[in-house]
Amino acid sequence: MKAIICTNYGGPEVLKLVDVPKPTITDTQVLIKVMASAVNSGDVRTRGLVVPGFLRIVMRMVLGFRKPRQPILGVVLSGVIESVGSKVAKWKVGDEVFALTGFRFGGHAEYAVLKENSTMELKPKNASFNEAAAIVFGGATAIYFLEAAGIKSCSQPQILIYGASGAVGTAAVQIAKSHGANVTAVCGEAGVDLVTSLGADSILVYTKDDFTKLPEKFDIVFDAVGKTTKKQCKHLLKEGGVYKTVGGLETAAERVSQLQYLRELYEAGKYRPVIDRIYPLEEMVAAHTYVDSGMKKGNVVIEVGR
Ligand SMILES: NC(=O)c1ccc[n+]([C@@H]2O[C@H](COP(=O)([O-])OP(=O)(O)OC[C@H]3O[C@@H](n4cnc5c(N)ncnc54)[C@H](OP(=O)(O)O)[C@@H]3O)[C@@H](O)[C@H]2O)c1
Repeated sequence: MKAIICTNYGGPEVLKLVDVPKPTITDTQVLIKVMASAVNSGDVRTRGLVVPGFLRIVMRMVLGFRKPRQPILGVVLSGVIESVGSKVAKWKVGDEVFALTGFRFGGHAEYAVLKENSTMELKPKNASFNEAAAIVFGGATAIYFLEAAGIKSCSQPQILIYGASGAVGTAAVQIAKSHGANVTAVCGEAGVDLVTSLGADSILVYTKDDFTKLPEKFDIVFDAVGKTTKKQCKHLLKEGGVYKTVGGLETAAERVSQLQYLRELYEAGKYRPVIDRIYPLEEMVAAHTYVDSGMKKGNVVIEVGR
C-alpha cells in the first residue's frame, strides 16, 4: 500500500511517499481502508519536534529518539472497515467510521489498523469522508477543553474564544453555540467572515482590537491557539470563571463520547467542518508546508481513497 513515512525529525521534506506491505490484524483489531485524513498542528509538531526545549527530550522518549517510532503519521482518519478480527464484536465489514488514532498514528496511508475499542465511531451518515476527517481533531479538542472548563454546568454561558479561525477555534465556536453560549470570538482579519458564518455573536480582530480591554466578563475564556496567558485574561473572567488554553501542559483526552457528540451535531445540521484545502496523499509535503505557515483556516484534509 502507499504510505507517507517520516524519515527523520525536521522540515516537510523528511516525509516520503513509499510502498509498504498492507498491514495485517490480530483477533481484536480492525483493518480500515482509509478514505481521508488530515494534517493538523499536532502532525507538524511531531514531524518537526516543535516543542519547548525541555519537552523535546520527553517527546523523543515518547515518539522515538532519532525519528518517530511509528513512521506513518496522521492522527485522524475516516474510512471503511475492510476486515475485523475474530474477537471483534463492535464493528463489521463495511462500517464507515471516523477516528482519532492517538499515539498509534497511521492515518497517512491507504490502510490503518486500530483496536476494537479505539476512539472510533460510525461517521455521520450524511458527511463525506473528507468532512468526517475534518471534524475529528478540532472537534474533539474543543469539546475536551470546553467541558473541562465546565461548559455543561453553565446556563447560557458567556464565552470568549481566542484564535477562532483554526481547526480548534472553528470547532470551539460551534461547540460553544451548541451549548447555548454567547460567543465573542477573536481572530485575524482573514477569518472574520468564516467565524461569523459559524455563529459567533461578536468578533474582534487581533491585529486591530485589544481583546484584553473588553468591558464584558466571561464564564469561560478559551485560547484555541495558545497565544495568550492566564495573567492577560484573568480580569476578563466572572467570579468562578475559567481560563483554558491549548498552549499549556494540559493535553486533551480523546473520548468516543466526543465523536458521538460531533456526529449528532453534524447529523442535526448544527456542525460544519471547515475545510481550507484538500491535498492528495502524494502531496503531503505541500500539505505540511501549508500547515507550517500557521495560517490555515479550519482544516487541511488529505484525500487518500478514491
Ligand atoms: N493541548 C492539547 O491537547 C492540544 C490539542 C490540539 C491542539 N493543540 C494546539 O492548539 C493549537 C491550535 O491548533 P489548530 O490546529 O487549531 O491550529 P491552526 O489551525 O494551525 O491555527 C491556525 C489559525 O490560528 C490563527 N492565528 C495564528 N496566530 C494567531 C494569533 N496570534 N491570534 C489569533 N489567531 C491566530 C490563524 O489565523 P490568522 O492566519 O488570521 O492569523 C489561523 O487561522 C496548536 O498550537 C496545537 O498544537 C493542543
